[in-house]
Amino acid sequence: MSTQIRVSELYLGQARASSSVQHCMAIYDKWAPTYNHEVGNEAQSYVAPVLVAQAALKAAEDPAKCVILDAGCGTGLVGQALVTAGAKVIDGLDLSPAMLKVAKQTGIYRNLAQADLTRRIETADETYDIVTCVGTFTLGHVGPHPALRELVRIARRNGIVTVTILEEIWVSGGFKAEVERLKAESRVTVITEELIDYVKGHGDRAVLVILKRIDSA
Ligand SMILES: C[S@@+](CC[C@H](N)C(=O)[O-])C[C@H]1O[C@@H](n2cnc3c(N)ncnc32)[C@H](O)[C@@H]1O
Repeated sequence: MSTQIRVSELYLGQARASSSVQHCMAIYDKWAPTYNHEVGNEAQSYVAPVLVAQAALKAAEDPAKCVILDAGCGTGLVGQALVTAGAKVIDGLDLSPAMLKVAKQTGIYRNLAQADLTRRIETADETYDIVTCVGTFTLGHVGPHPALRELVRIARRNGIVTVTILEEIWVSGGFKAEVERLKAESRVTVITEELIDYVKGHGDRAVLVILKRIDSA
């Protein structure tokens, strides 16, 4: 177990220090075959997927009928937690083809596609009832612009956007300010903004943000 934690910390450290989107993708492409074994084996401590899945479905109007996007889906841990919590239709997007390949093997995603969340997402306005994004708003990965606004754009009116943002970049990385802007523009209401133990026992905490889209495109 301790070796597994060291391996996952090594890859995560490299990914958080990555200098470009290409570099980040290369790290996850290498990590993909063992990600579930290392992170999944720490499932007791990597609690973010389950917390987000449960919170997102609880905030939605009719959970069993929701069409969901799992942005930055990785190998599918959030998708699996969503299914356990009652979700039926889930699409996934991720930067890394190798992570997507593992996600495909779960058999739970309707559609999976490669996408770079630092750019415009090639999805029509108001497509999803729920959008989740877990572990992807972190150092060296995806910043607030344009990603948060894009996730809101592709959520339906009254749709729910549920994301985690690493605590240390919540303010300094401009995430809090972007949430405030979306609120000031009357695009969203903020349902939840709370600190959670992201990886229990590892001191990693994240801000869990749940937004409800209130405007229409
Ligand atoms: C820590 S993993 C989290 C994966 C999954 N959500 C989970 O909780 O297990 C971060 C994910 O973000 C993806 N990622 C990193 N940069 C990205 C980008 N620019 N666009 C889309 N996905 C990105 C990585 O490929 C990786 O799958």
